[in-house]
Amino acid sequence: MWCSRVHVISLPSDPGIGERLASVMRCAHTSAWYKAFPDGELYMRLPSRVSEPIILTLTTYPEQNRSLMELLFAVEYFNFKGFKELYIVAPYLAYSRQDKEFLEGEVVSGRALLRILTGLGVRKLFVVDIHSDRLKEEFSNLVVNVVPARTFADYVRRAVRPPYVLLAPDMGASKRVEAVAKLLECNHVVVSKFRDRVTGEVTHQIPEEVNMKGVNVVIIDDIISTGGTIVNLAKCLVERGAGDVYVIASHGLFVGDALKRLSSSGVSRVVVLNTVNYRAPSDLVEYLDATEEILESIRNTLEK
Ligand code: R5P
Repeated sequence: MWCSRVHVISLPSDPGIGERLASVMRCAHTSAWYKAFPDGELYMRLPSRVSEPIILTLTTYPEQNRSLMELLFAVEYFNFKGFKELYIVAPYLAYSRQDKEFLEGEVVSGRALLRILTGLGVRKLFVVDIHSDRLKEEFSNLVVNVVPARTFADYVRRAVRPPYVLLAPDMGASKRVEAVAKLLECNHVVVSKFRDRVTGEVTHQIPEEVNMKGVNVVIIDDIISTGGTIVNLAKCLVERGAGDVYVIASHGLFVGDALKRLSSSGVSRVVVLNTVNYRAPSDLVEYLDATEEILESIRNTLEK
């Protein structure tokens, strides 16, 4: 019932999620009208004669700063007009890796963004697999983290031949992998990751007692950015005689020569969700749709 009353508004950076959501929710959908001024500034017109609740949809990669301006302008607009039931679906939320003042004076951009959205009266922000547990907990009234465990488990069930093992590339990834392993009723292994604070170099240590020989491996992570984490881990897996290596991640940013490095790393398949505005031009990469799990999360949170 709640869903059919919603008006979904796609902001310029929406990768198509607004239209897909509105079609499943059987509710109204409009796209913001926009253009760039000659100097590059953003001009945007929003549908103002709409009824509440409103869901604004967008993603925040590759043009993080521009898309966040779209979001802040739109949220301020509806807040100023007195709208109260304002929700956001941003499947990929930029800046959530900067969730702490690691070095004195560092701007905590993830926190800054969420404080602004809270101040502008946003009721809920739906994000797929937010990187930071810290932000999720600090802004638990605002952030709803959509865990795509079912989508990942379905993929493994239909594409990966047993025997296989799920692998978390670091402690931070362990809860995500555990959720998928629970659905598949299979084992998972958590790898230790070490980062050299001076050189930034990352190394992995797979527990010695785990037998990898001939076993297919599914690495599950939240983000593939430069690909460094996966390339390093794949090297260790090949050394340990593992079978096929699959990588599943929520967000495929594939920065720089990430695709080239992944292609020559020994990885057989890379699977990511359609959470960003970038499609990898590579047969290695396969895309899965996150809409169903986002919708389920909206329903579980708001249709009570
Ligand atoms: C790290 O904590 C994250 O979960 C990812 O493993 C990391 O951000 C991936 O980055 P890259 O692809 O550059 O190694």
